[in-house]
Amino acid sequence: MTRGVWNLCANILELRGVTKVFKTGLTGKPVVAVDKVSFALREGEILSLLGESGSGKSTIARMILRFLKPTQGSIIYRGKDVWRLQGREVLEYYQEVQGIFQDPYSSFNPIHRVEHHLKQALRSLADGKKNFDEDNVIREAMERVGLNPQNVMGKYPHELSGGQLQRLSIARALLARPRLLVADEPVSMLDASTRVDLLNILAELRDEERMTIILIGHDLSLAYYISDTVVVLYRGSVMESGHVDEVLMRPKHPYTRLLLDSVPQLDKKWEHRMGLENGDQDYDELSKGCKFAPRCPKRFDKCEETPPLLTLGSRRVSCWLYADRQS
Ligand SMILES: Nc1ncnc2c1ncn2[C@@H]1O[C@H](COP(=O)(O)OP(=O)(O)O)[C@@H](O)[C@H]1O
Ligand code: SF4
Ligand SMILES: [Mg+2]
Repeated sequence: MTRGVWNLCANILELRGVTKVFKTGLTGKPVVAVDKVSFALREGEILSLLGESGSGKSTIARMILRFLKPTQGSIIYRGKDVWRLQGREVLEYYQEVQGIFQDPYSSFNPIHRVEHHLKQALRSLADGKKNFDEDNVIREAMERVGLNPQNVMGKYPHELSGGQLQRLSIARALLARPRLLVADEPVSMLDASTRVDLLNILAELRDEERMTIILIGHDLSLAYYISDTVVVLYRGSVMESGHVDEVLMRPKHPYTRLLLDSVPQLDKKWEHRMGLENGDQDYDELSKGCKFAPRCPKRFDKCEETPPLLTLGSRRVSCWLYADRQS
């Protein structure tokens, strides 16, 4: 389905060599948060963007949502560079692309009742047009995410549970009837059963409305449960990407292998599993060789050069071990 200014494209979204460098501290030392990241999504696909803390996931989400401008590279939505949209195109972009975030408590102003937040969002999306019944639209969006409007209308955010509030965030995002939802760790602050309920809502949105979803997280089992494709990031770079079964069941990159070998089941978060910690990397350090080399059991001389993202069948791998097998 296309609306407004958008083109019909094989990929709904494509990142091409997207890089974000932050200048930090008094000296303005550059930190490469995202380093030439490329991947694409087809309409109706759920893609999990996986990576330990500090690997650049939220920065990618913020660039897709136009909160942060890439230092280099382009983000193409239905054939248009999202950072070159102008005037009305920006509003049309937000009618198609919406985000939900990790902490539902910080997404709602505590002094307003829940329906106020949804009305506000609806009015900014409607752009002055009011040819619909606001209350009906809001009730429908609430019901779509399993909330009973009678139980939540009239309440303040602090009177709802984390799970109810995150449902409300999804309801708010759905008011736009978006085609692409960028969900940045939407369930990581919730208890296990609420997580699964919320992921099931996302899966239903994909199945019933062909919504495309980028799900950011670091829980491999949840990614396996819901995704069609995965992108594994390490320190701002894509290490491996492809179909979820290929990447998580038959990993090729030494980093993905290490992650999956280090626990018997896909049920724990990466940080707990490997004791991983991310320190900020400076630009010089990152620009030389394979980023994973200091921890890679397979490294060899060639790894002093930066590996390209190789195509192996339907997957992509950034590792010199596969340079002669590229298809
Ligand atoms: N506004 C910022 N200024 C400076 N550095 C930042 C900023 N936002 C993120 N970073 C750095 O960029 C890297 C990636 O961060 P982030 O995208 O939040 O990772 P993730 O979401 O995977 O945990 C980290 O090293 C982080 O410290
Ligand atoms: S390029 Fe070399 S160091 Fe990097 S993951 Fe592959 S084998 Fe390991
Ligand atoms: Mg993050």
